[in-house]
Amino acid sequence: MTPHIIGNWKMNKTISEAKTFVSSLALTANNASAQIGLAVPFTMIATAAEAARGSAVSIGGQTLYEEPSGAFTGEISGALLKDAGASFVLVGHSERRTLFHETDEQINKKLHAAFDSELKAILCIGETLEQHRAGATHAVLEEQLRKCLLKISPEQCMRLMIAYEPIWAIGTGNTATPEIAQAAHRFCREVVTASLGEIVAATLPILYGGSVKPENAGELLKEPDINGFLIGGAALSLESFTKIIHCH
Ligand code: PGA
Repeated sequence: MTPHIIGNWKMNKTISEAKTFVSSLALTANNASAQIGLAVPFTMIATAAEAARGSAVSIGGQTLYEEPSGAFTGEISGALLKDAGASFVLVGHSERRTLFHETDEQINKKLHAAFDSELKAILCIGETLEQHRAGATHAVLEEQLRKCLLKISPEQCMRLMIAYEPIWAIGTGNTATPEIAQAAHRFCREVVTASLGEIVAATLPILYGGSVKPENAGELLKEPDINGFLIGGAALSLESFTKIIHCH
């Protein structure tokens, strides 16, 4: 599977910085053997998508609201993201779950909304440090997958990616070892096999996220069930993001 290298800018950068960054990235992206994406703040989706046009770079949003339109002040729909030039959206990032109290049930609705708007979606899952220490990782992942993927069809899964992001590894510098990440990815694939079938599971990109850097990306990507990355901090620098894109 071609690796998917996706950056998540979170609440960073300006429109003009996005334009410069994506224009340079678009030039190098075309000789990379990777699918490249950047999830950017809403305000710069249109500019970034314009700068990425005709290149191997896709632009996405970082969240969406579950309703298609209406009186939801401050929210954004899948259709509006698409209209601005996004082709994918992150759903259920741990910062959305923790800081904005998104539940698995809500995340499931958001996934349906993303697919209804013909966006691709990256479903983020992962356990806390306490859960990790208690040996509850598999149980947590299984429950998140079961609830978040409720009534998602095998056809919709053609536009789905999963990002396994252990919360203890996000922004901490404590990357999961390749062995730990591989075991979690393998387990996620087994859960998806059981619920959605072997074909869906075999073609589903499962990305790793949590302190991915140029120094550790190559080793992680050698694992058979790690199909790419969701990258926060290291995607803010063109140099480190490009190094990760070319790490294999
Ligand atoms: P990080 O963030 O790479 O800075 O750990 C990953 C993420 O939050 O998606």
